[in-house]
Amino acid sequence: MTAEATNRYHGFPDGFFERQDESPDGWFYDQPRIVTHIDDRAIRAVGEVYEQLGIGGRVLDVCSSWISHLTSAPEALICQGMNAPELAANEMATGGVVVDLNRQPLLPFRDHSFDSAVCCVSVDYLTRPLEVFDELARVLRPGGLWVHVFSNRCFPTKAIRGWLSTDDEGHVAIVSEYFRRSLGWEEPQSAVVLQAGRGGDPLYAVWATTRSVQDAP
Ligand SMILES: C[S@@+](CC[C@H](N)C(=O)[O-])C[C@H]1O[C@@H](n2cnc3c(N)ncnc32)[C@H](O)[C@@H]1O
Repeated sequence: MTAEATNRYHGFPDGFFERQDESPDGWFYDQPRIVTHIDDRAIRAVGEVYEQLGIGGRVLDVCSSWISHLTSAPEALICQGMNAPELAANEMATGGVVVDLNRQPLLPFRDHSFDSAVCCVSVDYLTRPLEVFDELARVLRPGGLWVHVFSNRCFPTKAIRGWLSTDDEGHVAIVSEYFRRSLGWEEPQSAVVLQAGRGGDPLYAVWATTRSVQDAP
């Protein structure tokens, strides 16, 4: 990281963004995984969260795969992921791009080209999250919404150590901090969607909207 980038990450402990498996992510995601990463009840809850928060219009699914969990097809659904066959199998998607956000945290989209965005059970794999969160603020329109949902499961060799070293409440705090430290977001909000310890996968949501143009620094 450059000195400027390191400064932005000031306060995160040493090694927070390192992983057990530091080989290129393209190797890990080389083979399609047409699987689900949370149970059916949690998947239904993800769709309900998206619906209640107003995900719609032109939607970007960040860290996507063959399923985006929306309850109905939006005007457009563009999926960014790591595996082209997975994205091609996403029946709701109207487009897809393979981008390794840990290699280069840039998206091939114009400014303000999406109304809303989602990211399901994946924020823990980002090693340069602040740059990715900046990039989402760029591609979303002013007032655009980005919703993260996550549970307590992951690919442990690919999740950042900071995520593995804390609990569900800590994960909510981490994602909220990413929004706060990135450019152009209103104060994030969060919710416990499905509580842990009640049978089935728990689910948490953290979301924020981009600042309107006149509020931008
Ligand atoms: C656990 S899967 C979740 C897939 C999907 N969002 C879902 O809900 O089923 C993690 C996803 O994170 C994404 N991912 C992992 N590493 C990435 C990277 N370096 N850059 C971009 N996306 C990445 C991949 O698209 C992968 O499918």
